[in-house]
Amino acid sequence: MVFFRSVSALSKLRSRIAQQPHINTSVRWLQMQSSTGQDLRSQLEEMIPEQQERLKKLKSEHGKVQLGNITVDMVIGGMRGMTGLLWETSLLDPDEGIRFRGLSIPECQKVLPAAKPGGEPLPEGLLWLLLTGKVPSKEQVDSLSNDLQNRASIPDYVYKAINALPVTAHPMTQFTTGVMALQVQSEFQKAYDKGISKSKYWEPTYEDSLNLIAKVPAVASYVYRRVFKDGKIIPVDESLDYGANFSHMLGFDDPKMLELMRLYVTIHSDHEGGNVSAHTGHLVASALSDPYLSFAAALNGLAGPLHGLANQEVLLWIKSIVDECGENITTEQLKDYVWKTLKSGKQVVPGFGHGVLRKTDPRYTCQREFALKHLPEDPLFQLVSKLYEVVPPILLELGKVKNPWPNVDAHSGVLLNYFGLTEARYFTVLFGVSRSIGICSQLIWDRALGLALERPKSVTMEWLENYCKNAK
Ligand SMILES: CC(C)(COP(=O)(O)OP(=O)(O)OC[C@H]1O[C@@H](n2cnc3c(N)ncnc32)[C@H](O)[C@@H]1OP(=O)(O)O)[C@@H](O)C(=O)NCCC(=O)NCCS
Repeated sequence: MVFFRSVSALSKLRSRIAQQPHINTSVRWLQMQSSTGQDLRSQLEEMIPEQQERLKKLKSEHGKVQLGNITVDMVIGGMRGMTGLLWETSLLDPDEGIRFRGLSIPECQKVLPAAKPGGEPLPEGLLWLLLTGKVPSKEQVDSLSNDLQNRASIPDYVYKAINALPVTAHPMTQFTTGVMALQVQSEFQKAYDKGISKSKYWEPTYEDSLNLIAKVPAVASYVYRRVFKDGKIIPVDESLDYGANFSHMLGFDDPKMLELMRLYVTIHSDHEGGNVSAHTGHLVASALSDPYLSFAAALNGLAGPLHGLANQEVLLWIKSIVDECGENITTEQLKDYVWKTLKSGKQVVPGFGHGVLRKTDPRYTCQREFALKHLPEDPLFQLVSKLYEVVPPILLELGKVKNPWPNVDAHSGVLLNYFGLTEARYFTVLFGVSRSIGICSQLIWDRALGLALERPKSVTMEWLENYCKNAK
């Protein structure tokens, strides 16, 4: 009797929870709490066999289930809408935007540990979340910060490799060169050469990934100091966390800039698997190339103007508006400028549109909220706000743009510019540092789950023509 009463009480509680989304959310967060006392590697070690079994079951029970049709449009149109990748760390909803292991950006801002109460999430916490699906405690995040700091030293030959390039080389070229030089230390390559068994691939991948994530801020900062400042290295400050240290090594110590960098590194880290940089990293790693080789390849994709370089293009474009029309530009003048841009050789309005998203990017929204809190009067922020009103109707008028709304890159530049990081040509490097967290987290799971070599089928136009003729 007591048993039945408690079962009925439990089911009442369950239905009450289901009716009250905030309680439901709290329960979900409670379930997502990381078990205290466990470090990141032990937690992963515990999870991997369960997840391997889960994948095995999925394959054996549902391996032949169809996920959709492939059309000629998809083959010609960059595989848009074609489901073809397994990516565990995050999932992108066209309307809602990104969820990191199920958590939206506002939820991450609420539940991930911060440097101070109510502050922006620490990127180390996001790394933990991406890798394990669990929300770490502040102590766990602090110990991961220390772990990363202990891995952050840079061999001298990395600086020498960068120095071999002219200082005028694009910062992304210099950054990727530095990452390639770091590859010399790859644990995965050493272990593979020694004949490590497949079941252990994830272990040196984990070491390489954490080393890489730990080292990229120092390499990136060196590129910044070399190209735009006096070339002197600012050493790590051991009292600071990952995001704050990155800002410090670049030469920016304003506490608000430290908060911005924490937010920046958190939100740029991962955007599911099909975007150019994530997909490239995953593809290259599928050949068992180590994390350094894979991540350097990903960076080369990020350096394209339709992807990561858009953040550079946005600030340069905004500054060109100010140069030509002044800061107090009217709405009509701004409309004319946008049309002029579209009719010029440039063709796209940078910072607007997306391959998957169909609403305003929540990464844009959280940066806008940061600006409203910390720099509401900044003239460039006000111009960004005006663009938010002016650009979407114009893009809709073009009649072909699927998403007229702003993406992450439409906002980041003016925030950095406000705190003194004004050199737009450097911005994609910041994006790259953050991407190391998402791409490497998934690479660890790629090896843990034994994911296959990527090898989709390609066809010629003639093949398509013949296929379509016969299909009629
Ligand atoms: C992100 C982007 C590459 C997505 O491309 P996509 O998936 O092909 O987008 P769509 O399906 O909406 O593209 C359809 C058409 O609209 C155009 N379009 C898309 N976004 C546009 C923009 N911001 N300005 C002008 N035209 C745009 C495309 O170039 C394409 O034109 P085409 O048929 O003449 O080649 C695209 O929106 C873009 O170039 N945006 C500007 C660059 C940018 O901000 N990149 C960062 C993304 S996070």
